[in-house]
Amino acid sequence: MSMKTIGVLTSGGDAPGMNAAVRAVVRSAISTGLKVKGIMRGYNGLIDGEITDLDVRSVSDIIHRGGTILYTARSPEFKTEAGMQKALENCKKFGIDGVVVIGGDGSYRGARDLSLRGVPCIGLPGTIDNDISSTEYTIGFDTAMNTAMEMVDRLRDTAQSHERCSVVEVMGRHAGYLALQTGIAVGATSILVPEVEYNLQADVIDRIRTAQKTGKKHFIIVVAEGVGTIHEEVFHIAQAIEEATGIESRATVLGHVQRGGRPTVRDRVMASEMGDAAVQLLVQGIGNRVISYRNSQIVNDDIYEALSMQKSFDFDTYQMALRISI
Ligand code: ADP
Ligand code: F6P
Repeated sequence: MSMKTIGVLTSGGDAPGMNAAVRAVVRSAISTGLKVKGIMRGYNGLIDGEITDLDVRSVSDIIHRGGTILYTARSPEFKTEAGMQKALENCKKFGIDGVVVIGGDGSYRGARDLSLRGVPCIGLPGTIDNDISSTEYTIGFDTAMNTAMEMVDRLRDTAQSHERCSVVEVMGRHAGYLALQTGIAVGATSILVPEVEYNLQADVIDRIRTAQKTGKKHFIIVVAEGVGTIHEEVFHIAQAIEEATGIESRATVLGHVQRGGRPTVRDRVMASEMGDAAVQLLVQGIGNRVISYRNSQIVNDDIYEALSMQKSFDFDTYQMALRISI
């Protein structure tokens, strides 16, 4: 089947840079002679037929904006056979020959299912968590790290003037990549991540006490969302630190501020390159693949293989962070 029209959708949690990716897909496709349709609200738009034509100007003025102009959603219906059939009917009805799916690994699974039923899909990694196994980088990660760093810098100012301890939760329900990078960048005394089991006494309180002995008076503890009870652990940790050390402590959950904002250079450029790479595959009729970033190169992988890859947490970097934050 020759590829004439492609669809593009964003799915799962949004990430800064998704708009830049949508723009790249639209512009690259049109430059290559394809027509493009925007599928709204993730896979829900495919099921409900919420699909609109996109031209070169439809994606003007979005490269610098967070969020996604296509909206995003989690679509439980798409996982059902009935939902999938509706999606396939709409692909036929709207003349969609292939789809670029921008999202996380859940979205990749949907793209695999659609590809297997005859609509070639290409996945683009979009999540602030950087937790997709096949790629070293996901669109949105750099912006989220920089936002988290800036927010914690602000907390540091007030922690410093009050000689307090600031315990901060950053996003990452299943992954500590964002917490590790942010923790290093802000000089956190402890960084707690879901990949490493922690002991409050040894990994937090003792480290604070040791630093206190050499004159340190304010402290930052970075905690990934996926550690302990989500959105509560930081409050327990802050209370425990105060009781054990006498240092006044405050807890902050950064939350969804990390998901918004103007994408950084890295996210805009990565999204542009990946969006273009996806179209160059689709135009050849190639589907069931995802775009990945490995060894400083944009590559692509079979979706099934991408989903079965393992991504290891960087324990060496984690150890380094502990060595230099004493
Ligand atoms: P993310 O893509 O960020 O990981 P989700 O896990 O919420 O986010 O997945 C986004 C959407 O992808 C889901 O709402 C669903 O429509 C689709 N999806 C997720 N998992 C599967 C699956 N196992 N099979 C088919 N579709 C899936
Ligand atoms: O996957 C991105 C992410 O921001 C995670 O870090 C976080 O756990 C989750 O999404 C929050 O999801 P929601 O937007 O549904 O609150």
